[in-house]
Amino acid sequence: MRSNRAIPAEFEDLLNREGRRVLAATHDLCGALADPKRRFLMRDDLLDRAKAAKVRGVLQAALAETLEPLDKPIPPESIWDMTRDYGELLPKTARSRTIFFDSRREAGVKAAEKIGLARLMRSESFRAFASALAGRPLRRGWGTQVLRYGPGDYAGPHNDHHPQNAAAKKGYIDLHVSLCTPGVAHQWLVYSRAGHFSEIVPMAAPATVTAYRLPFWHYTTPLAGTARAARWVLLGTFLYR
Ligand SMILES: [Fe+2]
Repeated sequence: MRSNRAIPAEFEDLLNREGRRVLAATHDLCGALADPKRRFLMRDDLLDRAKAAKVRGVLQAALAETLEPLDKPIPPESIWDMTRDYGELLPKTARSRTIFFDSRREAGVKAAEKIGLARLMRSESFRAFASALAGRPLRRGWGTQVLRYGPGDYAGPHNDHHPQNAAAKKGYIDLHVSLCTPGVAHQWLVYSRAGHFSEIVPMAAPATVTAYRLPFWHYTTPLAGTARAARWVLLGTFLYR
């Protein structure tokens, strides 16, 4: 296995000078998601490109084999059980590969701990960064997940609302670090504003940060690129304090 020193203990160490200004509360983005009109932001100028590329290399070498397939296809009954014209309802569909950090016994979680990825994603500066963008304090003990999109992988329209979770049902913050191989031609996030899927942003940059004030409707288009193209996503899910 490659040296895990490429994965820093603190998220802060993946940031470039611009990114550190978010943590220092001197960046325009601070509190951006507290704006009632703003639910989403994407930036490709906050991470150190060289460090991010090294992290991606370690993920590919150490985790690619332990990822679990996430495969939620379109149910056929969503068409054939319809009884009324235009009455279609689509549950959340998706295809990618993932590591959920819920169970520490999973092979993927063990591998993520071994290379220091779990430590990075549980680092205090990861939460501090999310909190700076959110413009409000966030709880300790946040959720983490790793996703890897390969060619054709996508996430269908969904809103990430969790009405059964008392702590999340009034909304929460997701922070995603997205790392693309050079073979990614395109992948887009489409999201809703004022009731329409009118907004579209590219996800194919080498090292981006996206932040979401959930819930709202969005989807991720199929990744296009070479056979070995991949987009890795490191996700943190943060509840308000
Ligand atoms: Fe989502």
